[in-house]
Amino acid sequence: MSKIPTLDDFDFKGKTVLVRPDFNVPIDPATKEIVDDTRIRAHAETIRELCEKGAKVVVVAHQGRPGEPDYVESLKGHAERLGEALGKAVKYVDDLFGEEAKKAIRGLKPGEVLVLKNVRSFPEETKRRSPQEHAESEFVRELAPLIDVFVLDAFSVAHRSHASIVGFAPLKPVCAGRVMERELKALSKVLESPEKPMVCILGGAKAEKAVGIIGYMLSRGVADKILTGGLVAQLFLMAKGVELGDVNVEILKRKGLYDLAPEAKKLLDEYGEMIKTPVDVALDFDGKRVEVKVSELPSEKPVSDIGSETADLYVNALSGANSILVSGPLGVYEKEAFIEGTRRVFEAVATSGAYTVAGGGDTAAVLKKLGLYDRFSYVSLAGGAFIEYIRGAKLPGVEVLLGRL
Ligand code: 3PG
Repeated sequence: MSKIPTLDDFDFKGKTVLVRPDFNVPIDPATKEIVDDTRIRAHAETIRELCEKGAKVVVVAHQGRPGEPDYVESLKGHAERLGEALGKAVKYVDDLFGEEAKKAIRGLKPGEVLVLKNVRSFPEETKRRSPQEHAESEFVRELAPLIDVFVLDAFSVAHRSHASIVGFAPLKPVCAGRVMERELKALSKVLESPEKPMVCILGGAKAEKAVGIIGYMLSRGVADKILTGGLVAQLFLMAKGVELGDVNVEILKRKGLYDLAPEAKKLLDEYGEMIKTPVDVALDFDGKRVEVKVSELPSEKPVSDIGSETADLYVNALSGANSILVSGPLGVYEKEAFIEGTRRVFEAVATSGAYTVAGGGDTAAVLKKLGLYDRFSYVSLAGGAFIEYIRGAKLPGVEVLLGRL
């Protein structure tokens, strides 16, 4: 990773700093209460450091997508959680760039923090535009004159070319916050110069990017081995000609994965044994776990986990690895009967002694459930951005920090 500017490169004393963290957290759809504030507490580190350095901190963030159950327009609850993490009062104003917001920003004293209203209440925020186009938006035009530096801390939103991610870069000095810095460091350590051998474990239910990830990792010699689970495994088994059974094929079709079989087959032809697929699986017989060999398929019951023989093989495949990247659980971990494969393999990752990085979708949730979250070298806060990054995509948020956009 080329050098990006960080908090170390600026003098923040007395400066008004706009910080873009990712405060998009799980929300109870009925009560609209925050149910997990991990992200808010992580970003508090960047905000605390800025306060200690004498900055006047303005926070712009989003929660959910308009129209979806986890969307809330007011970020008052988020500001309170941030205050708890910082151990001091945080101001909140229910305005984004109007007179009320501007007055509150002008009134800030060094060391104070102000959170603005959900940035997605501004419809142009999420338009996919270039930094220059977003810099023309009302939101950026109104706020830019009031700020001195823009700090982008939201790696987990860096895959979005949104106004609050890229729009200030053409107008103001930009740098990465501590969360962004840490995410990029961990990911480049495992992707750019991994200590070999490097093993990648790919599972989860959102497998549509798996083909791209595997292609990227193997063609660039990043990974030496890929262990598949979840729907990724089913896609590759199907590409090998295994008949999974109608119920499983239907799931692959519904998730838009069925049509990826020819691409998966191409990868199997090119990289063969470097891509491991299960030799046995656990079927869901009305909630009961029944293991069968892959050679015994098809089945009319859903494949819901890797089997125990596969777990043994995967645990063995990890021995000697010096770097391990994990994305996605290996089975339907929400059901107790089908978390076993994920537990066995992820425990082996945690005790491997390798440099271990996890991220994407449900991975952090399953690690928390298994009590393994703190036993990985690094767990990314990102879902979609993590997936994009590990398939080699250029993230607009990272590109603006590198000065390439
Ligand atoms: C995330 O939770 O992955 C980020 O906050 C991005 O959210 P989005 O997918 O709604 O853009």
